[in-house]
Order: sequence, then structure tokens, then C-alpha cells
Amino acid sequence: MGSKVYTYEGEQLTVRYDVKRCIHAAECVSGLPHVFDPNKSPWVEPDNANADALATVIMQCPTGALHFDRKDGGDFEDDSSSNIVTIQADGPLYIRGGIEVVDQDGTVLLNDTRIALCRCGLSKNKPFCDNSHLEGFVDEGRLGEGGVKVGEKEGRLSITLSKNGPLLLEGPITFVSANGGEQRQGVRAALCRCGSSQN
Ligand code: SF4
Ligand code: FES
Repeated sequence: MGSKVYTYEGEQLTVRYDVKRCIHAAECVSGLPHVFDPNKSPWVEPDNANADALATVIMQCPTGALHFDRKDGGDFEDDSSSNIVTIQADGPLYIRGGIEVVDQDGTVLLNDTRIALCRCGLSKNKPFCDNSHLEGFVDEGRLGEGGVKVGEKEGRLSITLSKNGPLLLEGPITFVSANGGEQRQGVRAALCRCGSSQN
């Protein structure tokens, strides 16, 4: 679980960019092309937009590669919204909310609001997606049968990385299929991260 974080200082806001978590979904570039321009160096110019607009676009980065620190007293990112797992067709799980990733001994590895987790088994930077699914992983991203414990729970989503096994999710969760047509809610689930599940 590697990281390589670059920071870009602006007058009102500092942008943090973890290159190892960027899978080039390009929400940043299309959202604010004058701030995020991969053809320039540095590729991030935080002062080319107002801080609120920049924070809004950064929060759309699905992988958590981008984060920000406000210097102007503006709002920080809220991690109290609902926890949503959206399956990407032929790709990772995009997860948003208040998220804690722990190893199977219970050691907290990460707290975040947005992550993209590998579900093909091929990533070299597990548990994160690193685009290795482009090597040929095919799955339309539907919700399988059963597997989600229904119940009442509030708060953050805990994701345990079981050794040589699935992602164990606990907390209030909404699952959304890749086409958006299926949704399910629950409080516990085990999700495949090797790419071999038939469900
Ligand atoms: S939105 Fe995030 S994952 Fe996508 S290109 Fe920008 S930094 Fe990378
Ligand atoms: S889902 Fe992207 S590398 Fe596995």
C-alpha cells in the first residue's frame, strides 16, 4: 500500500496529490482545466480557480488521489455523509463516505473519504486500484445474490483487508451497480478482491 504525495501550495488552499492512487479518471482535468493540466509543469496551479470551486472538483476525484487543506477558513471535506460503494464495470470499487481501512490485526492503515479499491486481483498497489484491470478484467459490475447483512447501523465504514481473502465491510453501506440500476443497503458484506468470484 504505497503512496507518493506531492503538494501544490496556493494562496488559499494546498492541493495534495498521491500519484500512486491516480488512475486518470480525469474528473480534475475536465472540471478545472486551468488548474489541472497534465501537459504543464507543475501540472497543478491552485491559484487559477477560487478555493470553493477547486475544493468541489477535488472532492469529485473518485480515488482519493486528490485532497486539499484550506488556509482561508473555508469548509474542509465532510466525512459524515453516507457510505456508498459503486462498482465500476471492468474496474474497481469506488467508495465514498467516512472510511477506515484496517489490516486483519485491526491496525488502522488509512482514514479517508474517497478510495478506489482493486477487485480484479491484479493491482501492484493493493488494496488500491492501479489500472491493472485494463490488462483484461471483465465484469459488468452487477450486484450478486445475497451476501449483504441487513440491519441498522450509523457512522463510519470499516474495511478490513483479510489476508489472502476478501474485503470485509462493516458499517452502514449502500451498494450501487455499475449501471446504477441496482441498489442494496446493509451493514456487513464480504467483497471479492481477487477477481474470481462467480457472484
Ligand atoms: S480525478 Fe483523481 S484519479 Fe482522476 S485524474 Fe484526477 S487525480 Fe487522477
Ligand atoms: S480493479 Fe483496478 S487494478 Fe484491480
